[in-house]
Amino acid sequence: MRKVMALILTLVFVLGLASFAAADWEKCKACHNGKVAPDEAAMKAKFKTADEFVKAAMTSPNAMMKSQQGDEEVLKKTAAALGFK
Ligand code: HEC
Repeated sequence: MRKVMALILTLVFVLGLASFAAADWEKCKACHNGKVAPDEAAMKAKFKTADEFVKAAMTSPNAMMKSQQGDEEVLKKTAAALGFK
């Protein structure tokens, strides 16, 4: 019984972490879908490092990005989730 519980807890933990990392970009994708704003592929083509990506997000003059610019940590996590180093 304890083994089963441990297994379930581990699963919940791992899945929770995975969806947490992906959740950030999920939010961005509402706009970053290649129509409203550049999509994932375009971002990867344009920026090489996490720093470049976060800086561009923080300094974007676009009004739609204003709501994203309050929390640099979220942007950093999103950069990591997208595979930027
Ligand atoms: C409400 C819509 C919206 C949301 C949500 C949004 N963005 Fe944006 N974002 C934009 C628009 C519009 C631009 C301007 C696109 C352009 O300049 O071509 C932009 C620009 C950017 C840029 C700069 C692109 C460049 O070429 O300079 C980055 C980086 C970026 N967003 C990252 C993010 C991240 C990361 C998130 C999620 C945490 C996010 N955005 C969420 C609409 C949004």
